[in-house]
Amino acid sequence: MLDRDNDLNAWDRDHFFHPSTHMGMHARGDTPRRMITGGEGCHIVDSTGKRSLDAFAGLYCVNVGYGRTEIAEAIAEQARELAYYHAYVGHGTEASITLARMIVERAPANMSRVYFGLSGSDANETNIKLIWYYNNILGRPEKKKIISRWRGYHGSGVMTGSLTGLALFHAHFDLPRAPILHTEAPYYFRREDRSQTEEQFSAHCAAKLEELILAEGPDTIAAFIGEPILGTGGIVPPPKGYWAAIQAVLTKYDILLVADEVVTGFGRLGTMFGSVHYGMEPDLITIAKGLTSAYAPLSGSIVSQRMWDVLVQGSDQFGPIGHGWTYSAHPLCAAAGVANLKLIDELNLVQNAGETGAYLRAGLATALAGHANVGEVRGDGLLAAVEFVEDRDDRRFFDPARKVGPQVAAALLEEGVIGRAMPQGDILGFAPPLCMTRAEADTVIAASERAVKTVLG
Ligand SMILES: Cc1ncc(COP(=O)(O)O)c(C=O)c1O
Repeated sequence: MLDRDNDLNAWDRDHFFHPSTHMGMHARGDTPRRMITGGEGCHIVDSTGKRSLDAFAGLYCVNVGYGRTEIAEAIAEQARELAYYHAYVGHGTEASITLARMIVERAPANMSRVYFGLSGSDANETNIKLIWYYNNILGRPEKKKIISRWRGYHGSGVMTGSLTGLALFHAHFDLPRAPILHTEAPYYFRREDRSQTEEQFSAHCAAKLEELILAEGPDTIAAFIGEPILGTGGIVPPPKGYWAAIQAVLTKYDILLVADEVVTGFGRLGTMFGSVHYGMEPDLITIAKGLTSAYAPLSGSIVSQRMWDVLVQGSDQFGPIGHGWTYSAHPLCAAAGVANLKLIDELNLVQNAGETGAYLRAGLATALAGHANVGEVRGDGLLAAVEFVEDRDDRRFFDPARKVGPQVAAALLEEGVIGRAMPQGDILGFAPPLCMTRAEADTVIAASERAVKTVLG
């Protein structure tokens, strides 16, 4: 009989080029190998039968939880009826048209249309092109630069990897590329001037942004992109007054705002959109992950009425827009999206994210904030992070070579809970499915306390 598990192990080592993986270690068999075989609610099961509580919802994406048959059935039904037709030249399906409507109904009031893609990265590529197209139509060919933040995460492509402000995603890839610029991260815990209040630090970030705009020339800056709350950069909520201060600078110089809501869209912060949560007024919103809870790959760029009106002028002038993906608005993904958004409403998951998120963060703070190596417990909604430091009073960070964050995440996995060692800093992140219960939050809190003790005493 075929030893399925061992054959798969060999095939995996020999043929599978995994993303974000140490290639040599994996190929040599030096990394723990995990084949995931099933999932239910907040739990996944691997091929050894080990069940883990996935407190990162995959990659903060399985928001309704695993094993939802409603979505599986919607995909199957769509596949039987019509697996594919393209969306070019005005084509649609009942699912894609319905989903566009459902998204705009849930989005902030000034939003108008959705352009569908497949990933957060390609949606941000679309955003960059729409911004350039927009300024060309308005006769401002010089206004093309895009400002992002250090520690922002906006994707892994050539341009979107450039928008991303994390060293790992730039080094050895010749990124970032022009015309992308970076400004200060709104990371209060890591501020240089520790005497600053949150409001003062927000004013400082806005001043740094204005300084960059003036140095480059306001007529050359097209847009600013930011996640409402920094995600992969460390799960860092904006300091008080940050978005109002940034927004004022953008308005002053007629610069568009892109809210990258790939993580925050559809409920993660306890509100349908993070833009609403923090009072942002974006011209474009990027969505992905929570749109289908990752049951199928689907993303979107939501375009404001103000931008849409200009884009329409463009096609009246130049003809159909020269931008398209074969799989844009793919019927199977759109069917998954419709079923997913219905479930979010029916199960009241946005409210649950707010309530259980507050419970989880309070529990983590009670369990860990007193530990000598815990610098900060932070988050918002169902996003939480614990940042480790070598010395709390001096706010001295560990040498990254010690890999304290990855060690704590590994110890946590031993406890049966999945958290994520965030890529820059010793930060343990949580972004569980929005259906998490208080009992599951208690499990995460207790396991985290034990994992920190195992690694740091
Ligand atoms: C805020 C944000 N934007 C964009 C992306 C890129 O999405 P994808 O990996 O689907 O390309 C991510 C992925 O984590 C993200 O967190």
